Amino acid sequence: MYVSPPGTRKAFPSREHRGRVLALGIEGTAHTVGVGIVDDSCRILANLFDMVKPEKGGIHPREAANHHAEVIAPMIRDAAGAAGVRLRDLDLVAFSMGPGLGPCLRTVATAARALALALDVPLLGVNHCVAHLEIGRGMTRCEDPVLLYVSGGNTQVIAFARERFRVFGETLDIGIGNMLDKFAREAGLPFPGGPILEKLARTGSTLLPLPYSVKGMDVAFSGMLTAALNLQRNGAALGDLAFSIQETAFAMLTEVTERAMAHTGKEEVLLGGGVARNGRLQEMVGRMAEDRGARMFVPPGDLCVDNGAMIAWTGLLMHKAGVHMSLKETIVDQRFRTDEVTVEWR
Ligand code: ATP
Ligand code: FE2
Repeated sequence: MYVSPPGTRKAFPSREHRGRVLALGIEGTAHTVGVGIVDDSCRILANLFDMVKPEKGGIHPREAANHHAEVIAPMIRDAAGAAGVRLRDLDLVAFSMGPGLGPCLRTVATAARALALALDVPLLGVNHCVAHLEIGRGMTRCEDPVLLYVSGGNTQVIAFARERFRVFGETLDIGIGNMLDKFAREAGLPFPGGPILEKLARTGSTLLPLPYSVKGMDVAFSGMLTAALNLQRNGAALGDLAFSIQETAFAMLTEVTERAMAHTGKEEVLLGGGVARNGRLQEMVGRMAEDRGARMFVPPGDLCVDNGAMIAWTGLLMHKAGVHMSLKETIVDQRFRTDEVTVEWR
């Protein structure tokens, strides 16, 4: 059930935004609906979230979509309230066009189209993975990073090369966050498991053997999940397991990120996605960057996870670069690849 956060119902919005470009972005590729409003200096005026939490098992795409449909309209109103702007002051509406779960994407696209039509402003469909990178650049002022994008469903190493964002490495099976969440669920811990395992890992000290699967710049995690669950059934302590999963999985991620940096010659590394909030991952990637004489950038936690502000900001960059989309061009794409995006704003 969605409840308006305090402070989102301001009766008299200020007009201080005059002269600025204002974008509203809607994210909803998976379990989170995010509505964000940003201006053209990447000031985050509002960034609201509502997440569907499955009682048991994983997310059901239809159920998640129903949840999104219920909360989107009040969240849009509240985002405007939190930002202190009127909806009619918005210059454009952006939404996440993919990759993601079909029913969720279609729900968000429908809401975005309705809003853009009602306000008579341009509508822009944004690639979710590219948005993680662009909000990181906007917030941290890094220029041309290798992005380690680590979330529930996605694990990718992305960088800009030859006019496009290219995926240099990715998971060959499940996302790192899914692996953490699935292990936690089987071990009887609530969702999302990642942050709980991070705390538990601090109580562990014995490094248990787990498969280390790196192929070039790709990684795989399902073997690690199976092995960790077997160890757990055989009585291994949860703290040691959490510690070992983090050390092994994060070492794999650090290794492939370093390889991509060496390959592309880039001297910045940016973290994004929910798992980027993990302190141990930040420590390991930060250390690798330091050893190479490179720099690591981590956006604030609310902008690492799936959020509406990143969609608004990427939409705004596209808009300022003159990108237009007809209604036809805003059809959602469950498998929208990072390197399919024509990058006209760089
Ligand atoms: P995407 O649609 O991009 O795949 P997602 O829907 O999984 O993403 P995010 O909000 O980016 O959403 O990330 C959620 C994931 O981040 C969950 O798997 C969660 O367990 C994980 N996570 C959040 N905080 C931490 C943490 N401190 N340590 C490890 N994992 C974390
Ligand atoms: Fe994401």
